[in-house]
Amino acid sequence: MKIVVIGGSGLIGTKLVKNLRQHGHEVVAASPSSGVNTLTGEGLAEALKDAQVVVDVANSPSFEDKAVLEFFETSGRNLLAAEAAAGVGHHIALSVVGTERLLASGYFRAKMAQENLIKASKIPYTILRSTQFFEFVSGIAQSATEGQTVRLSPALVQPVVSDDVAAALADVAVEEPLNGTIELAGPERIRLDELVRRFLSANRDARKVTTDVHALYFGTELNDRSLTPGDNPRIGPTRFEDWLSRSIPQG
Ligand SMILES: NC(=O)c1ccc[n+]([C@@H]2O[C@H](COP(=O)([O-])OP(=O)(O)OC[C@H]3O[C@@H](n4cnc5c(N)ncnc54)[C@H](OP(=O)(O)O)[C@@H]3O)[C@@H](O)[C@H]2O)c1
Repeated sequence: MKIVVIGGSGLIGTKLVKNLRQHGHEVVAASPSSGVNTLTGEGLAEALKDAQVVVDVANSPSFEDKAVLEFFETSGRNLLAAEAAAGVGHHIALSVVGTERLLASGYFRAKMAQENLIKASKIPYTILRSTQFFEFVSGIAQSATEGQTVRLSPALVQPVVSDDVAAALADVAVEEPLNGTIELAGPERIRLDELVRRFLSANRDARKVTTDVHALYFGTELNDRSLTPGDNPRIGPTRFEDWLSRSIPQG
């Protein structure tokens, strides 16, 4: 099968491309660094020629409200139009669990716009909504840091490791399109403030986490339902503690 991975050079994309190639598929890793740009349309038609499946795991270089909306709207439109022209039979996109509950955030308004374009297109699709990646915990800490304090909500989260996200997408790529949305989460629920505390402590990071129920998460307040999946998500098996002990600097 010919599968195009848009954002094939990113965190998830790199792992997905490797996984699909190991399963014998012809895979194009498409991104600006390899001459394929969904914002301008450059290289798209050529990359999609004879492709059966497209997996979109691109992300916006900027999370600023206007820029991120422009990224997901324009990229989504260009990509879906090019797929229709090439006769692609399955469009798969990676989105975020809880997106419709997080619309006070510009980033999630942009992800919602991406999902809505897919649903409105005629191309058979599957949207995989994942929870936060373990690798993103550092970014969450960074976004909530002021001086030496990291102010975070104690809302429940159920994060997942990027390898398990890539494996789930590789499965979806060879399944029939659902014309619907499925969820993926890690094996354990934990409070966001506690998750970041564990991450900082394991990395001997001196910043201190302050718990605040009103702390904003990329522009939106959270509760225990905001970021957690509904019934029957697919589960990535890797535990946070196991990943942490593998990923912290040794010595
Ligand atoms: N972070 C989380 O916890 C989380 C949770 C759930 C879902 N997600 C979703 O997961 C997806 C992938 O995230 P990630 O962390 O793997 O991303 P990432 O590592 O930041 O990679 C982004 C990718 O997008 C590509 N890209 C940027 N601009 C592009 C353009 N104009 N045209 C085509 N490709 C472009 C980049 O290509 P170059 O390298 O060539 O610039 C890169 O391959 C995102 O859609 C995000 O919303 C994230």
